[in-house]
Amino acid sequence: MRTEILGAEGIEKAAFLLQRGENVVFPTETVYGLGASIFCDEAIQRVFEIKKRPSDNPLIVHIASIDQLYLLSDEIPKELFLLSDLFWPGPLTFVIPAKKGLSLLISKGLSTVAVRMPSHPMALELIRKAKAPLVGPSANLSGFPSPTNALDVLEDLDGKVPLILDGGSSSIGIESTVIGLFGQKPILLRPGLITQEKMEAILKKPLDLPQGKEGRHSPGMRYRHYAPKAKVKLCYTKEEIQGGFVLSFSPKKGEYLLKTQTLYASFREADRQGISLIEVDCTFDLKENLALYNRLLKASGQ
Ligand code: TXA
Ligand code: MG
Repeated sequence: MRTEILGAEGIEKAAFLLQRGENVVFPTETVYGLGASIFCDEAIQRVFEIKKRPSDNPLIVHIASIDQLYLLSDEIPKELFLLSDLFWPGPLTFVIPAKKGLSLLISKGLSTVAVRMPSHPMALELIRKAKAPLVGPSANLSGFPSPTNALDVLEDLDGKVPLILDGGSSSIGIESTVIGLFGQKPILLRPGLITQEKMEAILKKPLDLPQGKEGRHSPGMRYRHYAPKAKVKLCYTKEEIQGGFVLSFSPKKGEYLLKTQTLYASFREADRQGISLIEVDCTFDLKENLALYNRLLKASGQ
């Protein structure tokens, strides 16, 4: 299959392909997503094959309007509205009770469904034109860093999808925050740009954090994630840094800038250069940016 890359002029064609049961990669403000219509089981199944995604890892559904929520759930928790009022469209995903009849390929045996309204205008227009919510896991091969631009998608999925919509570099660069609203208390399943503190301030109650065995609630947390082929070493003192491929908040000559927006692109760049070790300068207070720190910990295998 030949993979075409088109800008906003390709949205019409992308919507047509999705309606016909094909897969299309679309840009979002977090990372690029590998799309399929929620009404087309064959296309959803193909998402798992294309990405080599473990078959028990459920998918996020992307919507373009609040109306579309009701296609996915008929028990929408009030906390969703409190938070979506402020943070949608944007990088926040809710896990809520799933509607009966929703494709089992989306939730993979769970009684819940993950849903997000992205803010990238091309994603929103695509969902509207396709007249269907779209499943959209990150458009990388499973286990590799999520793609944040069209060429990074092509690196992983060339020949496997007919069309990649190019919406430029993702402005956020790491995956959305995931919050679970299915139990007694809201639970933070994946940290992201929308922080625990911001959400607690609005909900006026504390969020639970996954305890003990990670992945009890969110299957995706079980897998090695966000990792380049190169080994990632977090260096907490200057002495530990040997000076190969270095990521730093204040890069010296020859080093690379450490920031959320370009973290995955830097990982991919190191792999392209055949680098075996990426050193991350962690002598700065990374705890300030928990989402970035979380991705670094995962990438380093912790
Ligand atoms: O920013 C994002 O969220 C990107 C863009 C494309 O929207 N998408 C993304 O999807 O990161 P993915 O599939 O790579 O990550 C989705 C995460 C996985 O960890 C998955 O296990 C979890 O959400 N998830 C999906 N449905 C769930 C459910 N019903 N219950 C718990 N966790 C769920
Ligand atoms: Mg992913």
